[in-house]
Amino acid sequence: MRIPIIAGNWKMNNTIKEGIELIEEIKKSKLNKDVESVICVPYTMLKDAKVAVKETNIKLGAQNMHYEENGAFTGEISPLMLKEIGVDYVIIGHSERREYFKETDEDINKKIKTALTHNIKPILCVGESLEERESNIQEKIVNDQIEKALKDVNASKLENIVIAYEPIWAIGTGKTASSDDANEMLVSIRKKIKSLYDEKSSEVIRLQYGGSVKPNNIEELMSKSDVDGALVGGASLKADDFIKLLNF
Ligand code: 13P
Repeated sequence: MRIPIIAGNWKMNNTIKEGIELIEEIKKSKLNKDVESVICVPYTMLKDAKVAVKETNIKLGAQNMHYEENGAFTGEISPLMLKEIGVDYVIIGHSERREYFKETDEDINKKIKTALTHNIKPILCVGESLEERESNIQEKIVNDQIEKALKDVNASKLENIVIAYEPIWAIGTGKTASSDDANEMLVSIRKKIKSLYDEKSSEVIRLQYGGSVKPNNIEELMSKSDVDGALVGGASLKADDFIKLLNF
């Protein structure tokens, strides 16, 4: 059975003070124990956030990392540094990193492998642009991203990987893929995993949808056969909304 996983991606938002206040608000509510809750916060507050989520079921995630353990990479953060803090998850290959920071599929593949080596669970982001969707090549684009990201990744690791399908046209735009469209893509991703690995692997890997997920569409999305969770931007910054999502 795949455990549902709802992750908040705070992106470049919240000072330490604001972030801790938000976590404290979330902690006040009774969270559904059958849902894995994750918050992916900026690097600067990881350490404080780790203390704040102690003795709760909330897991902690980073939003990126370098694939090397150390070295001359000014401004970067390594898996060892994340591990030292006790980070459980790391978002890899978000479309904003692919677009604004020119991350390539090869970088993403290296990051996935390094994260797994250090027992940090990657949330691999994939998704097509509006132009690609309008040309009806979204499945090809996403399958290609997955194949490249998972190159040389062993089947035994798949239960520790989450794939987030985030169509770029739905991120921060208020436009959500319909629950049927989202599910159709996740079914296609699972089929791709089956063809790259085997049936068992395709059944254990957890797949999320991301892109304008809000309290008013979460229930419908989560009711679909292949949606195991959501990766949430904007709505994860508001305690009330995020609590509703965690308790969908
Ligand atoms: P929004 O929920 O704000 O559309 O962001 C989605 C996202 O990019 C999460 O990683």
